[in-house]
Amino acid sequence: MLKVEGINQYYGGSHILRNLGFEAKLGEVTVVLGRNGVGKTTLLKSLMGVVPVKTGGIRLDGQDITHDTPYERVRKGVGYVPQGREIFGRLTVDENLRMGLAYKSGGTPVPAELFELFPVLKQMINRRGGDLSGGQQQQLAIARALAAGPKLLILDEPTEGIQPSIIKDIGRVIRMLADRKTMAIVLVEQYYDFAAELADQYLVMERGEIIQRGRGPNMEAEGVRDRMSI
Ligand SMILES: Nc1ncnc2c1ncn2[C@@H]1O[C@H](COP(=O)(O)OP(=O)(O)OP(=O)(O)O)[C@@H](O)[C@H]1O
Ligand SMILES: [Mg+2]
Repeated sequence: MLKVEGINQYYGGSHILRNLGFEAKLGEVTVVLGRNGVGKTTLLKSLMGVVPVKTGGIRLDGQDITHDTPYERVRKGVGYVPQGREIFGRLTVDENLRMGLAYKSGGTPVPAELFELFPVLKQMINRRGGDLSGGQQQQLAIARALAAGPKLLILDEPTEGIQPSIIKDIGRVIRMLADRKTMAIVLVEQYYDFAAELADQYLVMERGEIIQRGRGPNMEAEGVRDRMSI
């Protein structure tokens, strides 16, 4: 579904992503692990087109999207859940969800299944985004990204600052979405146990490079936990 080939990314003079390449398959959760500042968010921003890549290529379902704008990528099926959630605090839950549908025609309803995945959003539908708890905002951010029916869902540290019970709920939803085999999921995480539970494939980043990769069930045996804890 997603094919990333040798991308390079710079902020000013610093080389942030170095010849980074991987594939993410339909029906699989690809987990990207790495400590603070290794370039995880920069990678996701590059996939989304928020920062332009200098060299290398990005293909979605066979289509070259390397130079598409973020808007075009949403239309083509990329859903993005940014780090820190970026909920519109003054808009209601309903309005936030509609932002996820903004590229569709005006009367497109919010898909009812989003409320099956996240029942709390239905209860809170007329509340302002800014009045929700961190965990509820995270669920809203995921629902907003799902509203447009993505083929590729990318999530940047969805467990950051969230209480354990909601982390469990979010994990269940991510697994269920992957198991439908209608999308590929790329999940950036620093929380090892959550990542290990969900990973079909894992990638470990260090200083802008992928330094280790493998299948999710082998993470423990291949020493990823130790690498993350030192
Ligand atoms: N807009 C920017 N301008 C200049 N440098 C930046 C910018 N954004 C990030 N950086 C630098 O690029 C590097 C990679 O940052 P990035 O946010 O991708 O890391 P990360 O792995 O997501 O970190 P974290 O785990 O803290 O979220 C860091 O050294 C960071 O300081
Ligand atoms: Mg980050």
